[in-house]
Amino acid sequence: MTATTRKGTGIMLRLKSLEITNIRSVEHVTLKVDPDGTTALYGPSGVGKSGILDALPWCLWGDTGSAGSAAALRREGSTEPAQATATVLIGSDEIVALRRITRSDSGVESASAKLWINGVKQSNVTPASLTRIITDLTGLTAKTFRGAFYMAQGQLTDLMTGTPAKVQETFEELTGLDDLTKRIQVLREQCKEAAVRAEALPGDPAEVTRTADDAKEAGRESDRLQQESNSAAAAAASARTIWDTANQRAKELQSAERAARDSREAVVGAEALAADAAQAVNAARLRLHDLGEASEGDPEVQGAATRTACAALEQALGELTRRGTELKAAAGQEGSARTAAEQARAAHDSVDPDALATAVTDGQAEVDAGRAAHQEAMRAAHVADAAVAQRDEAIATLSRAMDAAACPTCRQDVGDVAALVDEQNAILDQARKDAAAAHQKATTLDRALLDAETRLRKAHDALANVTSLARVAEHAEEAASAATRHADQAAATLAELVAAHQNAPAPTGREQIHSAALAVHEQLTEQLSTARGVTAAWITLTDTIARAAAASGRVEQARAAVVDAPSPTDVAAAESCEATTRVDLDTAQTGAADAAAQAQAARATAMQLDGIADDAATRWNLKREAAEQAEVTRIARDIGIALRRDLLAEYCATISAAATDILTRLGGEHVGFMIDETFVPQVVLPDGTTRATRQLSGGEKARAAVCAFIGFSRQLAGGGKPGMLFADEITASQDEAFRRDMLTMLRALEMPMIVVSHTADVLDIASRVIRLQRPPLGSTQLAA
Ligand SMILES: Nc1ncnc2c1ncn2[C@@H]1O[C@H](COP(=O)(O)OP(=O)(O)OP(=O)(O)O)[C@@H](O)[C@H]1O
Ligand SMILES: [Mg+2]
Repeated sequence: MTATTRKGTGIMLRLKSLEITNIRSVEHVTLKVDPDGTTALYGPSGVGKSGILDALPWCLWGDTGSAGSAAALRREGSTEPAQATATVLIGSDEIVALRRITRSDSGVESASAKLWINGVKQSNVTPASLTRIITDLTGLTAKTFRGAFYMAQGQLTDLMTGTPAKVQETFEELTGLDDLTKRIQVLREQCKEAAVRAEALPGDPAEVTRTADDAKEAGRESDRLQQESNSAAAAAASARTIWDTANQRAKELQSAERAARDSREAVVGAEALAADAAQAVNAARLRLHDLGEASEGDPEVQGAATRTACAALEQALGELTRRGTELKAAAGQEGSARTAAEQARAAHDSVDPDALATAVTDGQAEVDAGRAAHQEAMRAAHVADAAVAQRDEAIATLSRAMDAAACPTCRQDVGDVAALVDEQNAILDQARKDAAAAHQKATTLDRALLDAETRLRKAHDALANVTSLARVAEHAEEAASAATRHADQAAATLAELVAAHQNAPAPTGREQIHSAALAVHEQLTEQLSTARGVTAAWITLTDTIARAAAASGRVEQARAAVVDAPSPTDVAAAESCEATTRVDLDTAQTGAADAAAQAQAARATAMQLDGIADDAATRWNLKREAAEQAEVTRIARDIGIALRRDLLAEYCATISAAATDILTRLGGEHVGFMIDETFVPQVVLPDGTTRATRQLSGGEKARAAVCAFIGFSRQLAGGGKPGMLFADEITASQDEAFRRDMLTMLRALEMPMIVVSHTADVLDIASRVIRLQRPPLGSTQLAA
């Protein structure tokens, strides 16, 4: 509804300059426009004039017009950024808007925008925000701008000759009324749908009342039964209290009766235990008697004395055992020492020192003889080696003189050297054999010498060992004597111990001592066994006496705890009372349970009826709300219709008045222009009659159309000056007289405008002329 909100403000959008790069047929062009006068955009058909004009709404609003998309606006064949920069005056503000599309390597176009207002660059401007700002500043959308300020090629006569439906469509588009009309259409449909929906919904106020009454009645019945249930519950609670009391009383009496019986039984039990304990004391005394003990006296003292006697016997037995063991060990050691001494003495006696001395002397002589023989053999071997060396030398010398006539040594003539060499070789062989034999002999003698030396060493060792064997035998004999002394000592000690126990003179001789010790051991062991039996009997007697005393104590306690039993009559009366009140309680509880069940059932019924009533109310509410909604939609529709009627009347009046004003100023037969809700544009003749514009001549239609167009512009400008007009070839296909007539009319409008034309007539009314040219298949350029 921009047309209404803008009312009375005035627009005054005027172009100052437009720089275009890579749009339609333009590679790069900058147009300087006269913002206050008439700028002619002049050039032959196809030079690029309409393309230049199309760049302006794209730059300001992003509107791509008939191209359909920004990518289609891009100059064919170019991949560089395509952009337009428009400098416009809106009121007194100077706005510079730039819009650009950039193509990526993958062919995707991305848009960007910039904006300056009175020289100040605005931050964060996007293509969408630029469109929004321009719309806010001008109060125009791209559509209304194109409709009311762009007199496009061929559009004017359409308005004058179209069917009412077509004229209405154009009218509403130019005035912006189409939005409201569409909204009303939508509201009409919504209205119908809402009414149908409300009618179709279930819901009935009578049902609401009926179900609510039913629910209330059920609620009352439920309350009544609940009260009855409460009374029954109270009666049951009271019966419970009475029964509790009777039950308590009966239980107390039963418990007293049980306690009396238990206390009597406890006395009997304690007495039985005491009798058992007394019997056990007698048995313990009999046992002591059987053991030959007088059972009188303090058992604890007696027990302690017998325990001491046991300990003394155990100690004596231990001592005897220890001494006996000692004697046994000493006798064993004595035997071993004596055997070792005998063995050492036998080893010493088995060697003859004189024979060993002779062996040493003989061995020494043998070694000396062997050593001399070996030295002699070594010497013979050396002599043989020297003889071999000598023969070797002689043969070498003779070999060197093989060819000479004289012997190299004696310088005498030698008749047959070879024979001489052979002779020397024979000697050499013999010398070698002699040397080998000499070496063999020396080696044999060396081995014999070594054997003799070994034997001599052994003989020396054996002789030296004789002394040591004598010392060992002496030591072993001393140790054997010491062991014998020790064994005798142990036997004497054991004998004294035996004598002490037997109260007799000590036995002599190890055998006697040993058998006497065994007899004492047996005797002591028997005494210990008896003493232990007595000790156990005294302990048993002590324990049974203590148990008998405790049992007597418990008998006393039980007797003291005996309680009196209640009267059997009282007990029977209390039990009878409990049974009677129990029957009353059961009856009351059954009644209460029945009443509670009835109350619950009634409550369930009441809740069910509540639910039914709620459902009925909900259904009715939904139907009522739907009906209200339908009513609201209907009111909105009616308001819209009324508003549209008022606006339409106002717009028709404004447009008719403005167009009439222009027509009158132009003069001629047509003194007025009229358009109303029938959408049949008409001109008024001087006699007051009207004529539909479709009946006019071509030229008259064009005149009327320009006037109507100005009317639309004025209406959009709120009645004020609409700013700059853009007229694209509005005189095309017309004869010269008509064209001149139109140009005269445009001049008479006294509005800034850009007039596009490929005929030169336009130059007459232009305050500035922009000439365009385009070489074949080239881009649009400014002509000089
Ligand atoms: N995206 C484009 N890239 C290159 N050339 C284009 C593009 N779109 C249109 N054209 C060509 O640009 C030329 C100029 O077209 P335009 O409609 O601007 O001419 P004009 O000057 O208005 O002509 P007329 O006086 O006949 O109306 C035409 O030849 C058209 O085919
Ligand atoms: Mg054109």
